Amino acid sequence: MTSGIDGRVIAITGGGSGMGRALAIDLGSQGARVAVCGRRPEPLEETVGLVREAGGEALAVPTDVRDPAQVDAFFDAIGERFGPADTLVNNAAGNFICPAIDLSPNGWLAVINIVLNGTFFCSRAFAKRFPDAERPTGSILSIVATYAWTGNPGTAHSAAAKAGVWNLTKTLAVEWAPLGLRVNAMAPGVTNTEGASSNLFPSDEVRQRMTAEIPLRRFAELDDITRAARFLLSDDASYVTGECLTLDGGLVLEKGMFRFTEA
Ligand code: COA
Repeated sequence: MTSGIDGRVIAITGGGSGMGRALAIDLGSQGARVAVCGRRPEPLEETVGLVREAGGEALAVPTDVRDPAQVDAFFDAIGERFGPADTLVNNAAGNFICPAIDLSPNGWLAVINIVLNGTFFCSRAFAKRFPDAERPTGSILSIVATYAWTGNPGTAHSAAAKAGVWNLTKTLAVEWAPLGLRVNAMAPGVTNTEGASSNLFPSDEVRQRMTAEIPLRRFAELDDITRAARFLLSDDASYVTGECLTLDGGLVLEKGMFRFTEA
């Protein structure tokens, strides 16, 4: 068992599907008590069932991370059931492909509100309740993407939001270090999840083109992500803060100055 996961109280946003669900099951199976939030109750309850099947304890609290009052209620519910959370995974996101010039103000706001504002609201509500007396260390892990620093034609909203989250990560790592909190990010590349497949790479032709550009020649599987998250959240990473771990099979580095791989 990875040191430092057992016994933790871990809040995961966007826990009803994809990466959030996989993280809940994995961390629950490692002995953490996990609380998942998301907008729809049914998928959250399914996640709770899957965590229990994996031998873990779980709680579902339907929550829209865009609403600070609902976010407060999520962390209060965790406190009542398990005691205050000592770990937070900011995973909730929304994304779709749309050229910036065609993106409506509401489309922009929907993604910025979930990804950037939701991450701040959750991080703040979590830190205010952080149990300094009971456990000396805890952490926040936010899911970003390498396009936080490169930009991403076709998803200006998500790229700007993730850039904000990455910047926030570095600020909070310093501001909240005295609380005993580490604050990190993780940047998965193209990952096989149902939501991402249907929204972002729906056809075989697109998938093949994307795979050809990934130096490791495959998409990330959810296992790749959960194992890395386990490390960052555990005491094995006890001196890591303000960092971003990229897990993209080399994709962000692929072009190179001389286009060597195209020669
Ligand atoms: N293309 C262009 N605009 C889109 C869009 C798309 N595919 N999807 C949503 N929008 C726009 C809507 O048209 C609306 O703008 P409008 O009022 O000007 O028409 C605005 O975004 C809000 O849409 P709505 O569906 O009411 O927002 P929501 O807050 O319920 O959900 C998302 C927004 C992004 C979260 C939603 O599209 C979603 O659930 N996506 C799938 C989940 C997901 O993205 N997972 C992550 C995969 S990496």
